[in-house]
Amino acid sequence: MISPGPALIFAFFLHINLGFSQNATLLKDNSPNCSCYVVETGNTPSYFQYHRFWDFRNVATTKNQYTVTPPAVNNSQDAGDELAPDQAFLNSSAWNADWGIQNWGKPSTSDFPVRMQNSPANVYIQQNNASSYASDYDTYLALRTVRLEDFQSSAEVENEQKNLMHASLRVKARVVGDKGAVAGFFTFYDDNNESDIEILTDDPVDMIRYTNQPSVDDSGNAISQSSLNPSNLPSWDTWRTHRIDWLAARSFWYLDGVEAANNTYSVPRKPSGLTMNMWSDGGEWSGNMSVGGSAEYHIQWIELVFNTSGPVEGPGYRKREEEAAAIEKRKSKGCQVVCRVDGVKDAGFPEVAHVSAAGLGVVPLLSSWRLVVVVGLVAIVMEL
Ligand SMILES: *[C@@H]1O[C@H](CO)[C@@H](O)[C@H](O)[C@H]1NC(C)=O
Ligand SMILES: *[C@@H]1O[C@H](CO)[C@@H](O)[C@H](O)[C@H]1NC(C)=O
Ligand SMILES: *[C@@H]1O[C@H](CO)[C@@H](O)[C@H](O)[C@H]1NC(C)=O
Ligand SMILES: *[C@@H]1O[C@H](CO)[C@@H](O)[C@H](O)[C@H]1NC(C)=O
Ligand SMILES: *[C@@H]1O[C@H](CO)[C@@H](O)[C@H](O)[C@H]1NC(C)=O
Ligand SMILES: *[C@@H]1O[C@H](CO)[C@@H](O)[C@H](O)[C@H]1NC(C)=O
Ligand SMILES: *[C@@H]1O[C@H](CO)[C@@H](O)[C@H](O)[C@H]1NC(C)=O
Ligand SMILES: *[C@@H]1O[C@H](CO)[C@@H](O)[C@H](O)[C@H]1NC(C)=O
Ligand SMILES: *[C@@H]1O[C@H](CO)[C@@H](O)[C@H](O)[C@H]1NC(C)=O
Repeated sequence: MISPGPALIFAFFLHINLGFSQNATLLKDNSPNCSCYVVETGNTPSYFQYHRFWDFRNVATTKNQYTVTPPAVNNSQDAGDELAPDQAFLNSSAWNADWGIQNWGKPSTSDFPVRMQNSPANVYIQQNNASSYASDYDTYLALRTVRLEDFQSSAEVENEQKNLMHASLRVKARVVGDKGAVAGFFTFYDDNNESDIEILTDDPVDMIRYTNQPSVDDSGNAISQSSLNPSNLPSWDTWRTHRIDWLAARSFWYLDGVEAANNTYSVPRKPSGLTMNMWSDGGEWSGNMSVGGSAEYHIQWIELVFNTSGPVEGPGYRKREEEAAAIEKRKSKGCQVVCRVDGVKDAGFPEVAHVSAAGLGVVPLLSSWRLVVVVGLVAIVMEL
């Protein structure tokens, strides 16, 4: 690790000019001063080019705006063609630029006996009946799954950035409700390039499933090393920060900043997206929810620190060309201002960790930032 002290002193001597970009916040990048991000994984720093933060804690603009839970679908609403409750937020151009609410379904089979149908009706903003409606955590995003007589109504949301290539992905969340459901937060390219955090409501509250897919072989047998399921963890039914660090050679899972598992088995190698869901299909993994039951995945915020394979622009990004251009300009100067996302005053607002020697001109993104600082130091010593 480079200690921030000396690096900041270099910055002082070299009169580093921080690149500002007013519009970064529109890209959910609350860090106009940062040109890259450092994440410590198992005491080893990794550097990433991009950061985004989505905060669902203060969505309400009036008291009681979202305190009434939107109704679940009934047994005849089994096509997934409902609208998301609150179109103004969950179907806004800002939301649609980053997120896609899914409505696919799958039939029942002998292994997965309950037909499953995703519905936008199960994705909504919920507001606490708090005395002071402006308090923190007043609202959150909810993904719900409900067991009807004939099928399981479920929820899924995909991030539109589909080319994540190594990332640190975090969600502040809790899971509540009846047994027989799975809350998923995972990277996805295909069934063999997928890294999961899954909370099974059938499990004890101190157990979480951390899996790199595939978890079953061609003959349908479980691959034991694919799935780690530590117990004695802080309980998932209260607010926790869940995190996957997807690196080149190893996957790491963190809970409230503490490493809970790591695995070298089948670390994804393909550019991937991020998916969150709440579901059940009556199978062995999810368990069987009783008719009339329901369970919810509550999400305060989501934070992504990531690199991409190819250009960062996704469907939403292109709609915001000006902001995109400002960010690319900043990134093209290399990693001069290294920010951290952990141990900051406010979650989602990165803080400067150290500043490299911009006096050298354009500092390219190097895999070893230590080198950048050492070269900067040598340059200063030579000038003196
Ligand atoms: C931010 O975006 C607005 C509107 O798209 C534009 O007028 C303004 O120049 C941008 N500011 C910066 C600093 O890029
Ligand atoms: C960026 O740096 C400037 C100057 O140090 C500071 O005033 C500002 O608060 C910083 N912005 C953020 C979002 O950290
Ligand atoms: C808030 O209170 C109303 C009225 O009692 C109730 O219908 C609603 O379910 C409550 N919402 C939450 C999130 O507790
Ligand atoms: C299900 O809900 C829809 C929409 O509210 C309604 O039109 C329909 O009558 C309901 N069906 C049943 C069986 O309750
Ligand atoms: C968003 O609105 C469009 C119509 O403008 C509608 O077709 C679509 O179903 C809505 N999506 C959701 C998830 O509500
Ligand atoms: C990975 O997990 C194992 C088992 O918990 C642990 O002994 C090891 O130190 C971890 N490795 C890293 C690099 O964190
Ligand atoms: C990722 O996908 C590729 C192409 O489909 C496949 O060959 C590979 O086995 C998958 N899994 C991993 C961990 O690379
Ligand atoms: C789940 O319940 C259905 C009937 O609702 C039944 O057919 C199936 O065998 C059950 N599955 C499990 C894993 O218990
Ligand atoms: C992210 O990309 C930068 C620039 O290419 C590279 O230096 C860094 O090592 C990458 N980080 C990871 C974790 O792959």
